[in-house]
Amino acid sequence: MNIVILGAGAIGSLFGALLLKKNNVTLIGRTPHINAIRKNGLTIKGKTQLNVKIPGEDLIDKVEVPPDLLILTVKSFDTMSAIHQAKQIIDDDTVVLSMQNGLDNLAAIERVVDRKQIIAGVTTHGTFFSQPGVIIHTGKGNSVLGELNGKKTVRVENIAYVFNESNIETHVSDDIVKEIWVKAIINSSINPLTAIFQCKNGYLLQNPVLGKIVEKICMESTSVANAHGINIPYQDTIQKTKNVIRSTSENYSSMLQSVKKGKKTEIDSINGKIVYIGRKHAIDALLNEILIHLVKSGQ
Ligand SMILES: NC(=O)c1ccc[n+]([C@@H]2O[C@H](COP(=O)([O-])OP(=O)(O)OC[C@H]3O[C@@H](n4cnc5c(N)ncnc54)[C@H](OP(=O)(O)O)[C@@H]3O)[C@@H](O)[C@H]2O)c1
Repeated sequence: MNIVILGAGAIGSLFGALLLKKNNVTLIGRTPHINAIRKNGLTIKGKTQLNVKIPGEDLIDKVEVPPDLLILTVKSFDTMSAIHQAKQIIDDDTVVLSMQNGLDNLAAIERVVDRKQIIAGVTTHGTFFSQPGVIIHTGKGNSVLGELNGKKTVRVENIAYVFNESNIETHVSDDIVKEIWVKAIINSSINPLTAIFQCKNGYLLQNPVLGKIVEKICMESTSVANAHGINIPYQDTIQKTKNVIRSTSENYSSMLQSVKKGKKTEIDSINGKIVYIGRKHAIDALLNEILIHLVKSGQ
């Protein structure tokens, strides 16, 4: 399969390195990362150990052949500009897969690309960008893909097959929108607190007060999802959130890492979107709103 990965940072580079085994992959990323890859190859350390020669460009318009699959792995606040750039090189047969976190990516992509071409995914892999050319794979996870209409089509099954044969454990969901919400609820409950308290994920359950706050945020975010027609029981999201905290207890969340580097966070696409959708359903998502103010005031 011809695959272009737009946003070769932490997760995009990991997926690219793995997919390269059986596919033609081109990474699109920032100049220092692409130059380092050209010089020394792409190095993955940690749970995956690889050094691969992988084609890369710092401008997407250098891609000459429309890919079969475009995987979008930019942060959510870059989705709109990235998909506009991608529009130049894709054709009607290209499938666009968002492997991002946040509740606003699909709407942004749909403004530029026909909805029929879009599929979505979530992943529980943990990675971070160590330095240009080097990615650390901190946690091996799994991935879920799905058509926006929930159908288990040949193309989505085929992409899942391609992922699995490259050691990216993947299954197909008949409700990917719900999967995206579950991930957003978990992220809404973990990431801002770790950014505010500058702590590893595990501390949220070691401190009993923070543990209670995690539950309250989780319930608030879940009530917004339920009002929005996404049927998820509170007990499920609380349990899943606690499981993620335990399995990533030694990790620093991406939001905390962004805050420490003075970079923009995805809080508007996660907690911000929960507040926004809550308002539409007359739900005051006060805890989410407070988290947004606290994270932004610390930047
Ligand atoms: N990392 C993880 O473990 C993980 C796990 C699950 C889901 N996710 C989700 O996956 C998405 C990506 O996360 P990440 O951690 O991989 O982020 P990341 O390391 O910041 O990677 C995104 C990369 O894309 C670059 N970029 C942005 N716009 C671009 C463009 N138009 N052309 C070329 N490059 C562009 C960014 O450069 P600049 O930074 O210079 O703008 C950055 O290097 C997020 O939605 C995140 O929540 C991440």
